[in-house]
Amino acid sequence: MKAIILSGGKGTRLRPLTYSGAKQLVPVANKPILFYCIDNIVQAGIKDIGIIISPETGQEIKDAVGDGSPWNVNIQYILQEVPGGLAHAIKTARAFLDDSPFIMYLGDNLIGTGINEFVEEFQKNTPEALILLKEVKNPKQFGVAEISKEGKVTHLLEKPDIPPSNLALVGIYIFSTKIHTAIEKIKPSKRGELEITDAIQELISTGSNVESFVLDTWWLDTGKKDDLLTANVIVLDEWLKGNINGHIDDSSKVLGRVTIGKGSMIKKSTIRGPVVIGENTMIENSFIGPHTSIGDNVKIMKSSVEHSVVMNSSELIEIERIEESIIGRRVKITSNNTMHKALRLMLGDDSVVEV
Ligand code: G1P
Repeated sequence: MKAIILSGGKGTRLRPLTYSGAKQLVPVANKPILFYCIDNIVQAGIKDIGIIISPETGQEIKDAVGDGSPWNVNIQYILQEVPGGLAHAIKTARAFLDDSPFIMYLGDNLIGTGINEFVEEFQKNTPEALILLKEVKNPKQFGVAEISKEGKVTHLLEKPDIPPSNLALVGIYIFSTKIHTAIEKIKPSKRGELEITDAIQELISTGSNVESFVLDTWWLDTGKKDDLLTANVIVLDEWLKGNINGHIDDSSKVLGRVTIGKGSMIKKSTIRGPVVIGENTMIENSFIGPHTSIGDNVKIMKSSVEHSVVMNSSELIEIERIEESIIGRRVKITSNNTMHKALRLMLGDDSVVEV
């Protein structure tokens, strides 16, 4: 079995973070979302992975992932020139996929479990497609499945106005080669894309066996700010193992599960886990609260940060309290201690600030 990971797209819902980078490389607990996807695929024993990239962010993805040697797998990059939809991505990867069954994994989807169970089920029952479903509150934003009383998928609809259920299609699918024939038969959707949902519907309509699993762990489609913060909380809660490589001075307190990378220094500060701090980061006279991820080369002085993500090379100086915030790379936030207190801002397009 092979795998393709979709790592294109413009990431519009995560702007401004995604103006300067691919959404799949946005970190959750200091690790790019895409790396969690690769880990899951590798753990399922798959050695050949095609990463579908776009002209806009492809190079950045290549630089981050490289040739796959850290995972001991073969990685091939496949350029999808236009954002033509998920089924179009499969068409683009046709030569790479050859006649192999394959997993399609959307590079911005995070789930709270591995995928071995699904791969084994697919290999045992050999359906034409195996899909994952998850109950959601907002089914209109996803592909949605209609299920019969016997638990069979009877109908799939992409972002329906009137959802037939609250079971959304998770962005992890396993297919036999039959999906290629189905894709040949579908037409572009309202949003002008070749939808994988329509191709799977085509399989169902022509009597092919489509199996479904309802996920009983969490699933996060990390497309938006709140999803990203939730993902950060869950991953820190469930997967972080404390590991201190940096230096902590005697007047600092480190409580709970905390990971501190090489070359980082904690001075006169309290760190209350779960917290992950990257490499060469300096924290002084500060409080870093639960559920916070701080990247590499960050400087935090006389500040307090909770339930937040601070990415590489940013600085927070004398900021009383930051909560539920996502701070991108190379951001500077400082306080002005002049008589004339004022906000002096230089914010990129689509920034969101609550004061
Ligand atoms: C895509 C699929 C949708 C699925 C979702 C999961 O949506 O079209 O069926 O539920 O991924 O992340 P998109 O991210 O393209 O809006």
